[in-house]
Amino acid sequence: MQSHFGKEDSVQAVDPAAYQILRDLAAQRRSVRRFKPDPVPRVLIESILDVARLAPSAANSQPWEFMVVEDEDTRRRIARTAASLFSDARKRDPSFNWSIAVQPFLGQAPVLIVVLGDRRMMDAYPSILRGNVLLRQSLSICIYGLQLAATSLGLATAWGTLQGGSPEAEIREMLGIPDIFTVDHIVPVGYPDESETLRAVALAPARNLAALRRPLVDIVHWGRYDSSRVRSAQEAAEFIWTQTVTRVRSRSVPPRDELSSR
Ligand SMILES: Cc1cc2nc3c(=O)[nH]c(=O)nc-3n(C[C@H](O)[C@H](O)[C@H](O)COP(=O)(O)O)c2cc1C
Repeated sequence: MQSHFGKEDSVQAVDPAAYQILRDLAAQRRSVRRFKPDPVPRVLIESILDVARLAPSAANSQPWEFMVVEDEDTRRRIARTAASLFSDARKRDPSFNWSIAVQPFLGQAPVLIVVLGDRRMMDAYPSILRGNVLLRQSLSICIYGLQLAATSLGLATAWGTLQGGSPEAEIREMLGIPDIFTVDHIVPVGYPDESETLRAVALAPARNLAALRRPLVDIVHWGRYDSSRVRSAQEAAEFIWTQTVTRVRSRSVPPRDELSSR
């Protein structure tokens, strides 16, 4: 097995094949934002949700419940509503580039999984941590499990954020979701169709950048933080402007003054 740490180290896992399968899945998973219309058998949806529910959660609160939406008309209404979040965001901050966001395309995916968080489970957290951060963290980790499971079954997923604002309220109303639940995340599931559409070609640079990850050597510190490797403010800003999908088309880094005033 190829070591990612150095030639002399090798992974002495109980089952090295299991590690390799997991790493391959993690590397293969990509956010896919175009889907074929082919239906996804319910047994596959249940299989990926079965992995999602095994995720760790703060205090084992397991705050998640899942709404599986297959009806096309409802999916399209959800997509329209979710996309409105982006027009609002763009109005407030025109510098953001949301061009590879999944939200306008949610309706294409044959299945939408709306991930709900039971707010009452926050009572399981110590009072100083009662805010919804632990709830949201728990939901996020369960979504990653869901995504890896989908990848293992040849299914594609993405992640649509709803947090706050009118889309959340509208979708709650549309699906009859009780107020006790947060409605922050939508995961489309389907068979990938990122074929050579004009849009796919145009977005290829952004998608390629999204696949990049910072190397271990830049992000791992053994025992004590190695300050010689801390990113400067300029490097951090450059990363945001050149490597994240939000601003990926803005290749030039704005002057430092402009960055600090943002
Ligand atoms: C917490 C979280 C929120 C995200 N929200 C959105 C979103 O609202 N719309 C979207 O298209 N992608 C969203 N994504 C997907 C990221 O843009 C994507 O994971 C990242 O660009 C890396 O690309 P990859 O998933 O293809 O590896 C989100 C991902 C996470 C973890």
